[in-house]
Amino acid sequence: MIRDEIGLTGTKFGCGMAQCGACTVHLDGVPVRSCSTPVSAAAGKKVSTIESLSADNSHPLQKAWIAHDVPQCGYCQSGQLMSAAALLNSNKNPSDADIDAAMSGNICRCGTYGRIKAAIKTAATDMQKA
Ligand code: FES
Repeated sequence: MIRDEIGLTGTKFGCGMAQCGACTVHLDGVPVRSCSTPVSAAAGKKVSTIESLSADNSHPLQKAWIAHDVPQCGYCQSGQLMSAAALLNSNKNPSDADIDAAMSGNICRCGTYGRIKAAIKTAATDMQKA
């Protein structure tokens, strides 16, 4: 629905089984796996996709992702960013353990986990300054 009907192609279809996290979007601010979430579950709720962060890469997470050269192939990254955004929306100063817990459901076949963690920390610092 998100990609083919609405045309927002930032959200990726990965495993189709809610296992990899590439399809992560927010439903009323809560990260969900869109591949396994029926449209009926979104009725009356706000759906936020990767496109909602910013159109000009000005969101602190987007800036940090660029500064840390996080993406490799990039396929998982919109899902990674949406999980990271949900984390920082609820926890402005996450610990390593908080980041590990929040991001544990997002798989990256390219192994960018270290860069993701560093970028989340940078974004959290930037958001505290703002
Ligand atoms: Fe390739 Fe994560 S950057 S799967």
